[in-house]
Formats: sequence, C-alpha cells, structure tokens
Amino acid sequence: MQKFHRGRRLRRSPGIRDLIRETGIQASALVQPYFVLESPDENTLRPIASMPGQSQLGLARLLEVVAGDIDLGLKNLILFGIPAHKDSRASAAYAENGIIQQAVQRIKKRFPELVVITDVCLCEYMDHGHCGIIRDSEVKNDPSLELLARTALSHALSGADIVAPSDMMDGRVLAVREALDANGHRELPVMSYAVKYASAYYGPFRDAAQSAPAFGDRKTYQMDPANAREAMRESRADVQEGADILMVKPALPYLDIIRALRGSFDLPLAAYQVSGEYSQIKAAAGQGWLEEKGAVLESVTAIKRAGADIILTYFTRDILKWIAGKK
Ligand code: PBG
Ligand code: ZN
Repeated sequence: MQKFHRGRRLRRSPGIRDLIRETGIQASALVQPYFVLESPDENTLRPIASMPGQSQLGLARLLEVVAGDIDLGLKNLILFGIPAHKDSRASAAYAENGIIQQAVQRIKKRFPELVVITDVCLCEYMDHGHCGIIRDSEVKNDPSLELLARTALSHALSGADIVAPSDMMDGRVLAVREALDANGHRELPVMSYAVKYASAYYGPFRDAAQSAPAFGDRKTYQMDPANAREAMRESRADVQEGADILMVKPALPYLDIIRALRGSFDLPLAAYQVSGEYSQIKAAAGQGWLEEKGAVLESVTAIKRAGADIILTYFTRDILKWIAGKK
C-alpha cells in the first residue's frame, strides 16, 4: 500500500547520504589561477581589492605561495601575467624572458609534477587592453593569430604542460596547434576557451590583470550571452582545429551550455568559475549574508553536476583545505 515516494529513506544519515552521492569534488580536477607580476621586487604581494584572498605575486613570492598550496594538495594551476611594459604588439606576451616564461620555468623546475597551464592571450600585454591587434580601431583577426601562436610556442618552450588560448580570435586553435607541431611540441595539449561569453563577470579580473580594454568592449570577439546554439558551432570548430580540452566560461550562469557540450562532444570539458563569480560569493560572505563554504561547494558541485570534468576556480585553495578537513 505504498502510495508515495519516500525520498527521505536515503537521506536518513550522513553515511547513507555519502553512499548515494552522485557528484564529488576532487583535487585532481581543480585548477587554481595565479597572477604573476613582473616586478623588480620578486617578493611583491599585492592584494587585489576586488578579489579578496587573491593577489598579484612577484616571481619569488609566487613560488612560495605555490609551495604552500601544494602542501594543501594543489595539482594544477593556470598562470596570468602582468608585464612591466605593454605595447601595441604585446611583445611581452612572447618575450623569451617574459614574466610567464620565467614563471613556468621556475615552477616546473621546482615542482615537476604540477600541471602548469598557461593562459594564452594578448590583452594583458597590449597597451589598449584588447585581445588582438588593433588596426583602423578594429581588432584584426588574422594578424593576431601569428602573435597568439608565438605566445603559445614560447610557453611550450618554457615547459608549460598545457596551453590555453582565451582570445576568441577565429582560427586560433589551428594557428597554435600548427606552431606547436612545427616546433617539436606535437604532444602538448591545447585547452581551448572554446565558449567564452562577453561577460560582466570578468570585471574583477580586469582589475587584477590590469587588462580592461581602453576603448570599446570585447563583443566583436567574445560570444553573446543570449546564444546557445552558437556555442556548438564554436566548439565544433575548435575540435576540428585540434583542441584537446574544451572550456566554457563563465561557469554558473552557463550550466545549460556545459550540459549541452557534455552531451555533444567527447573531449574533456572544463568550466571557468570566473572572477565575478568568485567575488560575488566573497562579498556576500564578507557581509555575513551567505555562508561561504556552503555556497562555494554548492556552486562547484553544480558546475560538476552539469558536466564539467575540470573546474578552474579561485576557490581551489579553500576547497583543498576543506577536502583535507582543515578549518
Ligand atoms: C583574457 C582572459 C580574461 C579572463 C581569462 N582570460 C578576461 C577577459 O576576457 O576580459 C577572465 C577570467 C576571470 O574573470 O576570472 N582574455
Ligand atoms: Zn584577452
């Protein structure tokens, strides 16, 4: 005479709830972003006001912070550079002794097992803050490809484990893949920011990386948040061009896109919980309006549940502490 579903049977104890839990968060799937500052004082640590808990780090300080995070269980990181000099050709992006190139060399030398991913873009290195070359007040696609490919190759030469083009120029994955292949890096994976929306949630990052566009916006190259089918076209193109991992960015406002890609492609799928997603939780928690740990774990669990294999998040360090049962 069972007339209704008794869902509470499987929620009766922590043990049963653990037993039937469908989604978990593992250290191996988390990627912590770092901002590396080119500075004469390699011990610099400059807190980023709009991202409480994150800082711009000089080279020596970066190594120290990474060492501490490895003690917490860190497995993967992604690097963003803040160069001392910006120009109209982003020369610091592919300089042999650029800040990212140095950071990768030093990190890989000291922590060879760590998976080091580099963000490949030009905006942090351009005096105008756009992700490509500007001519006639326009971001030019094809001339930008060559610089992006050079940047990726220079990261590879420095010892990066994965390169991640985030610029949203058309044909960038192919350009990067060809440059890597032609120079002996056939085995180096490309993680493509395949589906990157023109999002208001990047606001704090542009502060952090000093990469806000000096004029206009990124809507001629990043995607319109209203479009889902277009995400399929972008992904298909990147797969054809040779991407090894696809990424959706931002994460939480685009769970439908993550789920759709999961169903349509068999590549590993990453999602980037971006700066604004981070800072909105931080801000609310700072006011006592949200319980931080609960909100963070719920958000990353949702991103995984939607279908992401890999999550890039500024909360990685906190989650590692919680996984280890600290705090
Ligand atoms: C650079 C880049 C951006 C982010 C990652 N790579 C900024 C942008 O496109 O403006 C955003 C990351 C974040 O908000 O956390 N192309
Ligand atoms: Zn960019």
